[in-house]
Amino acid sequence: MAKFCMLLILLIAVCSTSASSKSAKSEDGEGLLSCLHASGLTNVTTVSSSASEFYSLLNFSAQNLRFTETQTPRPYVIIIPESQSQLEQSVVCSIQRGWEVRVRSGGHSYEGLSYTSDVPFVLIDLLKLNKIKVDVKSKTAWVQTGATLGEVYSAIANSSPNLAFPAGVCHTVGSGGHIAGGGLSFLSRKYGLAADNVLDALLINASGKVMDKNTMGKDVFWALRGGGGGSWGVVYAWKLQLVSVPTILTAFTVLKTGADNVTEAVHRWQYVGPQMEEDIFMRVQFFGIKVNNSTTIRASFHGIYLGRQTELVTKMGKIFPELGMVAAHCKEMKWIETIGNFDSINVSQMTNRYYTNKVFFKIKSDFGKKPLTKAALRGLWSIMEEEVSAYAIFSPLGGIMNMIPSTALPFPQRKGTLFDVQYKVTWTNKSEDDHYIEWMRKLHKYMKPYVSHSPRASYVNYLDLDLGSAFNGSASVEKARAWGDKYFHHNYNRLVRAKTQVDPMNYFRNSQSIPPLAN
Ligand SMILES: Cc1cc2nc3c(=O)[nH]c(=O)nc-3n(C[C@H](O)[C@H](O)[C@H](O)COP(=O)(O)OP(=O)(O)OC[C@H]3O[C@@H](n4cnc5c(N)ncnc54)[C@H](O)[C@@H]3O)c2cc1C
Ligand SMILES: *[C@@H]1O[C@H](CO)[C@@H](O)[C@H](O)[C@H]1NC(C)=O
Ligand SMILES: *[C@@H]1O[C@H](CO)[C@@H](O)[C@H](O)[C@H]1NC(C)=O
Ligand SMILES: *[C@@H]1O[C@H](CO)[C@@H](O)[C@H](O)[C@H]1NC(C)=O
Ligand SMILES: *[C@@H]1O[C@H](CO)[C@@H](O)[C@H](O)[C@H]1NC(C)=O
Ligand SMILES: *[C@@H]1O[C@H](CO)[C@@H](O)[C@H](O)[C@H]1NC(C)=O
Ligand SMILES: *[C@@H]1O[C@H](CO)[C@@H](O)[C@H](O)[C@H]1NC(C)=O
Ligand SMILES: *[C@@H]1O[C@H](CO)[C@@H](O)[C@H](O)[C@H]1NC(C)=O
Ligand SMILES: *[C@@H]1O[C@H](CO)[C@@H](O)[C@H](O)[C@H]1NC(C)=O
Ligand SMILES: *[C@@H]1O[C@H](CO)[C@@H](O)[C@H](O)[C@H]1NC(C)=O
Repeated sequence: MAKFCMLLILLIAVCSTSASSKSAKSEDGEGLLSCLHASGLTNVTTVSSSASEFYSLLNFSAQNLRFTETQTPRPYVIIIPESQSQLEQSVVCSIQRGWEVRVRSGGHSYEGLSYTSDVPFVLIDLLKLNKIKVDVKSKTAWVQTGATLGEVYSAIANSSPNLAFPAGVCHTVGSGGHIAGGGLSFLSRKYGLAADNVLDALLINASGKVMDKNTMGKDVFWALRGGGGGSWGVVYAWKLQLVSVPTILTAFTVLKTGADNVTEAVHRWQYVGPQMEEDIFMRVQFFGIKVNNSTTIRASFHGIYLGRQTELVTKMGKIFPELGMVAAHCKEMKWIETIGNFDSINVSQMTNRYYTNKVFFKIKSDFGKKPLTKAALRGLWSIMEEEVSAYAIFSPLGGIMNMIPSTALPFPQRKGTLFDVQYKVTWTNKSEDDHYIEWMRKLHKYMKPYVSHSPRASYVNYLDLDLGSAFNGSASVEKARAWGDKYFHHNYNRLVRAKTQVDPMNYFRNSQSIPPLAN
């Protein structure tokens, strides 16, 4: 119900903007609004911070409640372009008038970087740039970057039961930010990152010039696909390579409970999960649960098989008998239904843009290069049991990820990486921020000996400002290496070169963007 109300509020907000943009005009010392409203052709919708609908619109795609507090810096105005020319105009007017720009697609940035800033800024919200054109014959799609993954998946599934796109599970994640940061998924072992399947992109620079992969240059097209959103300009649309899936595939979930059971199964998983054939993806999520006043650990082994259930059960009996998978753990369904299955929604909800389970959260990430010992795993359980609102997920790489060179795109974790780890803790009361963030830092510290080092790597789509940050978005190339090295390792220098080429004046920046070389 809540999401329908939000949609209604949003519609009212968008319909009533003419009155609000007028009322803001007096604050607009530098003529941003008159620039935006300069011609009938590019009369862009704006919602100023004094408008009554401003906060519902700002909150709508703000996905971490830590950054929706009244003390969070808010944009001077929210701009809602509805066409390529309106987007160009939005960028040009904002930058010419001296405003810093934040671009928001799905708003899932873990540190709220798409809708907050430490300097005065405007928010360009892409939520109305969500059109998708699927071409079944060539197995491609053009996707405006405001489209959510759910909207993309829905459009693909409506076009063909045998096509898919390898990107994340959460339906409200934006294609704008997700693909820009790489995009790991249940199909990564078979088809690589979302970014590995981008054929072309339309990028708008600070002068409003639109470039495609040929005109932007090789380094820039490389940087867009995994170097993280926010540094290069505004991507208006992606051209995606769609991938083949069977009409019916199998989703499965096997639970293990108690430290002994979980330790045995997870320990073994580390040896088999990343080595399985590419048609199987099995990740493991673990969390503390309360049973009769005491807390224990539970693990959920789940994923998909690009084939039928009986085959999967037979295969698992051979490669991972310790798991004890039986038919009852499996369910056959269409690819689009597997997304809904692991996102706890049904397919009719796939295109809802409002995320209903908003909480306060802190996330960190790691990459596993070698299996953890049983003792190390038991130590992890005992920390996880302290906070039952936390979980960690080990997701296998391997498969085609081992075949793609580590310099092919900015994402460097290819051959030699067994799995990625995401740690998440959630809470519901602002006053508990410090407690949970400190706990997450403790957990991350505990894991140090067991994961990648030199550098201890992180994933840019699991953004973490603890790695360092630039005040006002202007860090030197050396300072930004603090996070650039962890997200991109040996690819960082090429990202700096791409940045220097495409945005030498550093118009597109945030607390963890890639800086240009000083000129
Ligand atoms: C519930 C949940 C599940 C997730 N699952 C996965 C997963 O399975 N795999 C995975 O890899 N990641 C996953 N993520 C992480 C997700 O991929 C990142 O948070 C991603 O950056 C979010 O993209 P967005 O468009 O929603 O976010 P936004 O906050 O809108 O954007 C993120 C960054 O990209 C910039 N940006 C957005 N659009 C554009 C554009 N058009 N042009 C230029 N810059 C742009 C923003 O300014 C910001 O800096 C998940 C996140 C959540 C919350
Ligand atoms: C553009 O829209 C604004 C408000 O939305 C309105 O005041 C203005 O007259 C419009 N301008 C043109 C040229 O249509
Ligand atoms: C936006 O979110 C903030 C913080 O959660 C809340 O205080 C405010 O009431 C919300 N505003 C709207 C209009 O939903
Ligand atoms: C945008 O791209 C055009 C064409 O390459 C170029 O002439 C212009 O200088 C660029 N603008 C900025 C601000 O870099
Ligand atoms: C561990 O697994 C066994 C076999 O499935 C089960 O009988 C036992 O109850 C499990 N232990 C806990 C603590 O759940
Ligand atoms: C849990 O603890 C409460 C309070 O200490 C006690 O009253 C209750 O009986 C306990 N329940 C179980 C199942 O042990
Ligand atoms: C929890 O407590 C109830 C009631 O005391 C008991 O019946 C049940 O077996 C206990 N469960 C576990 C997992 O210990
Ligand atoms: C999908 O879920 C929603 C909310 O739980 C429910 O109202 C709706 O009937 C469901 N639709 C289908 C097709 O199952
Ligand atoms: C949030 O925490 C504060 C301080 O611990 C407490 O006073 C307040 O009641 C809590 N609010 C809610 C909604 O739980
Ligand atoms: C940060 O930006 C603000 C506002 O634009 C400016 O006043 C301040 O000097 C900047 N600080 C630094 C360290 O660049």
